[in-house]
Amino acid sequence: MGAGIAQLGVEAGCATLIHDPFADVPKVIAGIAARWEKKGVAHSPPVVATEISALSTCDLIVEAVPERFDLKQETLARLSAVAPEAVLCSNTSSIPITALAAAAADPSRVVGMHFFNPPAVMRLVEVVSAVQSDPEALDRVCRLAEAMGKHVIRCKDVAGFVVNRANRSFGLEALRCLQEGVAGVETIDRIYRLEGGFRMGPFELQDLVGIDTGYEISLSFHQLSFGEPRWRPSTLSAQMTAAGRHGRKTGRGWYRYDAGRPHRSDDQPEPPVVAGMQVEGSGPVAEALRGRAANSDFNDGPRVVVDGLGGMIGTEPFYAITPLHLVEVTGPAGEAAFSSLGLHTARVSTSPAGVLPRAVCRLVNEAYFMLGEQIASPEDIDAGLILGLNHPRGAVGRGDLLGRQNVLTALDGLRELHGDAYRAAPLLRRLTAAPS
Ligand SMILES: NC(=O)c1ccc[n+]([C@@H]2O[C@H](COP(=O)([O-])OP(=O)(O)OC[C@H]3O[C@@H](n4cnc5c(N)ncnc54)[C@H](O)[C@@H]3O)[C@@H](O)[C@H]2O)c1
Repeated sequence: MGAGIAQLGVEAGCATLIHDPFADVPKVIAGIAARWEKKGVAHSPPVVATEISALSTCDLIVEAVPERFDLKQETLARLSAVAPEAVLCSNTSSIPITALAAAAADPSRVVGMHFFNPPAVMRLVEVVSAVQSDPEALDRVCRLAEAMGKHVIRCKDVAGFVVNRANRSFGLEALRCLQEGVAGVETIDRIYRLEGGFRMGPFELQDLVGIDTGYEISLSFHQLSFGEPRWRPSTLSAQMTAAGRHGRKTGRGWYRYDAGRPHRSDDQPEPPVVAGMQVEGSGPVAEALRGRAANSDFNDGPRVVVDGLGGMIGTEPFYAITPLHLVEVTGPAGEAAFSSLGLHTARVSTSPAGVLPRAVCRLVNEAYFMLGEQIASPEDIDAGLILGLNHPRGAVGRGDLLGRQNVLTALDGLRELHGDAYRAAPLLRRLTAAPS
């Protein structure tokens, strides 16, 4: 992360130094130069600061040392002694900035500056205000991030800041569905990719990031929130961590990573349209199915009854969100009917909201918790998920697309079965009761 941030510093026109006593810094700088060469641009490389004291001339310093509270506190304390006038930024993803700032000689100069990986590519930066942060220091950090070409989200110092908090349920809901037997690992990943438009499924992503790392983050969320049920870590992650199945880096996680063998099979293209469908009901899923059926040359076919984010085909429940690409089905009738309409299907067990509608409703719900707590604006939440994590859509936008009433109904059904993790955000309920 440090190398990418230094690259951005130079590109923003700042005299930039790198200090890392444990890395081969000339090699890091050569890597940055190679990236510039590939892009066909020329810059003076960052300067190596062998001793931390060389940073005394800096106006602004970003720390990107490993994610350990004591190390970060110690680093900020040392930096504030070396450069007492500088604004000190932390690139932490999960440690409260307020607690880190307390270690600096002047806590008002400490600000969170959260880049996404890889920093030179991802367009988002979260600028996090600690309780002690001085507004001028925050403005300076925002101006620097903008000079680096970033979209800036200003946010409060809450667990996960805006983006990681908004996205907490992406992986947790997948783990809950797996544990409850709604579907298996590969099926859930395929559903997230094809139905949700995500580049990677949650289990593939956990394998990439490291299951142990993800588990640590989930523990920290739960601790920081004093046991919020929405963020209860999964016992499955604890087990995988204990078993040493940490993902790609250990050769095995949710998948096996054998050299020369893909960890999963390729997604097939959507099947051709060969039949129609009679659709009863209203709402976005019903409309999308009607649109598909009307586009086909057949206007009869099996009858489905749509109720919110899913419905029934004969005696089989099914689940879907829009835009419609894949339908989660619970039996052969759904499989035959939806695939003959040119849609992918995936077999899941009967549950209140299938796999993806459940996860998406949780994402929408979290966005409304954040809006109610005035943590970020709807635009920032959505920009954060799209630019920081490559989501195809933001959570507030998804809620509008699916209909807040449908989201609320799904959450209420889940709460009845699974408890308070699914309680609706007060603002979501209020706005749904009194639509504008
Ligand atoms: N990797 C990501 O996806 C990502 C994304 C956003 C934020 N972050 C955050 O960025 C920070 C760094 O993450 P990373 O993935 O680049 O870690 P990393 O382990 O790859 O790099 C950390 C670097 O810090 C150096 N270092 C260790 N102790 C030091 C010290 N006392 N002084 C100076 N340098 C020291 C190490 O030599 C290493 O080069 C963490 O806080 C992490 O949470 C990481």
